[in-house]
Amino acid sequence: MRLSLAAIVAAFCMLGVAHGQEAIPESLTGAKGDPARGRAIVASRQVGLCLLCHSGPFPEERFQGNLAPDLAGAGKRWSEGQLRLRVADSGRINPVTIMPAYHRTEGLRRVAPAWRGKPILSAEQIEDVVAFLLTLKD
Ligand code: HEC
Repeated sequence: MRLSLAAIVAAFCMLGVAHGQEAIPESLTGAKGDPARGRAIVASRQVGLCLLCHSGPFPEERFQGNLAPDLAGAGKRWSEGQLRLRVADSGRINPVTIMPAYHRTEGLRRVAPAWRGKPILSAEQIEDVVAFLLTLKD
């Protein structure tokens, strides 16, 4: 019994799950996103709403959130694939996160009928956001 638990823990460590190394390495669209469009999505109060929780290098935005890590330096802290997973489905890293799963339609509760089956951001928008986050090196 003890041995199999150790084996499971070892397997998870090798997968990198325990170290937050989990990632979606491949682009969701097969193409690179556009960082300028991504910045607009992140800063938007209608589309991304990221600044409800996060702050970041957006001098033009007066009100920014303090519920989540500053996005500055995110492109240095995380690889492209790690950022993609965090934006698409942060619940796969932290099951109790308050961050919305921006590109998941399965396993959500209390979704209004008009929104069922529709991700918050399209695959193309996710790639734009990832491309922008990768530019945040400091
Ligand atoms: C409702 C609050 C909320 C919103 C909205 C939100 N996030 Fe988050 N985000 C969090 C929290 C909290 C964390 C810290 C990790 C965790 O708890 O999952 C996080 C973590 C992250 C991380 C990893 C940060 C790091 O360096 O450790 C990135 C990148 C990120 N979010 C990007 C975004 C982007 C891009 C958007 C908008 C498309 C967004 N978030 C919207 C709450 C939010």
